[in-house]
Amino acid sequence: MKKNIAVIRGDGIGPEIVNEAIKVLDAVAKKYGHTFEYTDADMGGCAIDKYGDPLPQHELDKCLNADSVLLGAVGGPKWDSVPGNMRPEKGLLRIRAGMGVYSNNRPAKIWPQLADASPLKPEIVEKGIDFIIVRELIGGIYFGEHRTFEDGERVSEDVMRYSESEIERIGRIGFETARKRRKKLCSVEKSNVLDTSRLWKSVIHRLAEEYPDVELSDMLVDNCAMQIVKNPAQFDVIVTENMFGDILSDEASMITGSIGMIPSSSLGAGSNGLYEPIHGSAPDIAGTDAANPIGTILSAAMMLRFSFDMPREADDIEEAVGKVLSGGFRTGDIMQSGMKKVKCSEMGSLIAQAVSEI
Ligand code: IPM
Ligand code: MG
Repeated sequence: MKKNIAVIRGDGIGPEIVNEAIKVLDAVAKKYGHTFEYTDADMGGCAIDKYGDPLPQHELDKCLNADSVLLGAVGGPKWDSVPGNMRPEKGLLRIRAGMGVYSNNRPAKIWPQLADASPLKPEIVEKGIDFIIVRELIGGIYFGEHRTFEDGERVSEDVMRYSESEIERIGRIGFETARKRRKKLCSVEKSNVLDTSRLWKSVIHRLAEEYPDVELSDMLVDNCAMQIVKNPAQFDVIVTENMFGDILSDEASMITGSIGMIPSSSLGAGSNGLYEPIHGSAPDIAGTDAANPIGTILSAAMMLRFSFDMPREADDIEEAVGKVLSGGFRTGDIMQSGMKKVKCSEMGSLIAQAVSEI
């Protein structure tokens, strides 16, 4: 199969981790006789430097015309002082909205090889951590009106808005995802305070009638934050709005041991998806070949699975990651005593090699 992948290396460690994911994709292509063509696109700080805009239309067009998009990370202290609507992160929000990828899938799964790295007590980890956060990605407070104005003093507001149809389409993804797993869906909101959450809850319950095989529960977001550390084994699929999902997915990644391991997929109506690790651009270690490329490599695996319908190829990548971890290789962020510390580029080569040997 021939696929055109738009590649956004971005800022900080972005270029380093994306290069390793490409190494692994190339190993897959060679093994299965696929052709992956890569089109570079600029977004984030590097696009601000080059074009004065975090995502110019011509760069977004490259992504819209591709079969899928692989993204490293954007942002860094260099662009901290640029105005809000021109920040690197704005590029990220614009590409999500521009591609219409409303459904962000963030798995929280513990690798047995890294169980010791979880900050949770062993007796909690032993019960298992394997759940998915389905986060609404192009609505809510992130995309409502933002403004700062004078009213005797400076006042700011950010509007949180959801329509029934926006809730329904992400709710469906939640139910469908649960249906393919352990059939448990937890809908997370703040219906004791927010109107948007009360609407959320009522739409999700209306949908539940179409999914009688899925067990639905409701949870307030503050309680959910607590339950993720207290008893993560209770969760199978969590569905929630944009900002709650942002916060809970960082928490969920932490309990698995390293945010550097977690991939994500973002999909909309079509098969063109956006695939990125959930961590940031880590400017403190950029350029030192010290980053963990596994979150990006696993994001590439998700791309093969969800956008290209290549489940065997995706399985190979995930198995290769497991093999390399079992072989004792670790990047700095997941280093444990007695293990062999490797650079970002070595980790990528080891995983690519393992792919070709499986
Ligand atoms: C994420 C990030 C982004 C978000 C930032 C960088 C805009 O934290 O992907 O989780 O808040 O969505
Ligand atoms: Mg985040």
